Amino acid sequence: MDRNPTRRALFVGGAAAAVAAAAACRADRRADRPAAPARTPDVVPFHGAHQAGIATPPQVHAVFVAFDLRPGTDRAALGRLMRLLTDDARRLTAGRQGLADAQPELADRPARLTVTFGFGPGLFAKAKLRDRQPRLDLPRFSIDRLEDRWSGGDLLVQLCADDAVTLAHALRLIVKDARDFAAVRWTQRGFRRNQPAGQTQRNLMGQLDGTVQPADLDKAVWISDGPEWLRGGTVMVLRRISMDLEKWDEADEGAKAFAVGRDLRTGAPLTGKAEHDEPDFTAKDELGFPVISDNAHIRLARAADPALRMLRRGYNYDESISRDGVADSGLLFVSYQADLHRQFVPVQRRLAASDLLNLWTTPVGSAVFALPPGCGPGGWIGETLLA
Ligand code: HEM
Repeated sequence: MDRNPTRRALFVGGAAAAVAAAAACRADRRADRPAAPARTPDVVPFHGAHQAGIATPPQVHAVFVAFDLRPGTDRAALGRLMRLLTDDARRLTAGRQGLADAQPELADRPARLTVTFGFGPGLFAKAKLRDRQPRLDLPRFSIDRLEDRWSGGDLLVQLCADDAVTLAHALRLIVKDARDFAAVRWTQRGFRRNQPAGQTQRNLMGQLDGTVQPADLDKAVWISDGPEWLRGGTVMVLRRISMDLEKWDEADEGAKAFAVGRDLRTGAPLTGKAEHDEPDFTAKDELGFPVISDNAHIRLARAADPALRMLRRGYNYDESISRDGVADSGLLFVSYQADLHRQFVPVQRRLAASDLLNLWTTPVGSAVFALPPGCGPGGWIGETLLA
């Protein structure tokens, strides 16, 4: 068979023939290709009791996209949309092309792609399912300078992958499939260091960020009571927090460590030597002051009961640089917790009241979503609510 029929067809048969020939050639190339192994280190399994992308060791790149449902997208239409998006996610995460994939050649490197779905408060209202909505409201925090362009949303899709091209391809397919049902409200992109799983990443202030995490995800993250349809799911908070890095540059190392309660280089608590040493919040210095300040971030953020810790899985962001050379940088703070009001809210209240980090950081976006449980090979995400 002619391996390169496209150009010839263009000359002899016109554009339509060229398209047909190109399709035949693509099919031929696919037939030649050996079948992908069922499971490779590059594939994060899509099916399971919980959605992937939450407990999954964080990938290097992430994009979060929130949609507003269009008028007329009711419960039945939402069911159709979620079947379609689940099918896309199932294929793409396994390294297979989507159903209406215009660039199938971009699908064969899954790069640990995960696609995770969440439902915002507006979805429950539009689907007339308010009676099954868990609490997704946050109080107003004094430090917030929230902008609509980074906040809210009816439907969330979180895509994460170790390869930026894989991610862009998956995002485009998902958005194309969703756009008859929903309009894009915002897109937020983030990145992390490309480093071995288990190592704590650094945020753009230079701090090791993500050291203390829950030990038992069944208690801290996965919902086991409350609405039946949400069991095995979780609640996600996304806060876009801008960092004044110019001002942070002016602080000396001592002040930076004091603000967090940890050494900047090693990530060790100021009362210890290594990153994972337990902080001693009772220790005093020679003048009788607490070694870890009363206003240090880790003191205020600490959950009294370790079972109430939230799972943090944040991403750095670094957008355009102004003409004066000042970057728009910060943290996409992302946490997953079984109980928004027992885990996230009390911590954020304490931080808003007196965290020293507030001198350099400002929340500019905020959104909360209920993340349904995972599904099996014959199922779809959201079926427990929408079917
Ligand atoms: C701990 C940075 C916002 C909750 C930490 C640590 C750093 C840090 C460096 C210590 C290492 C670790 O355990 O990860 C930041 C920065 C923020 C920010 C730069 C904003 C730009 C938040 C927010 C929350 C939060 C909004 C929740 C409302 C926590 C918790 C811990 C923590 C729960 C662990 C505390 C412990 O038990 O030791 N953060 N954080 N952080 N942060 Fe943040």
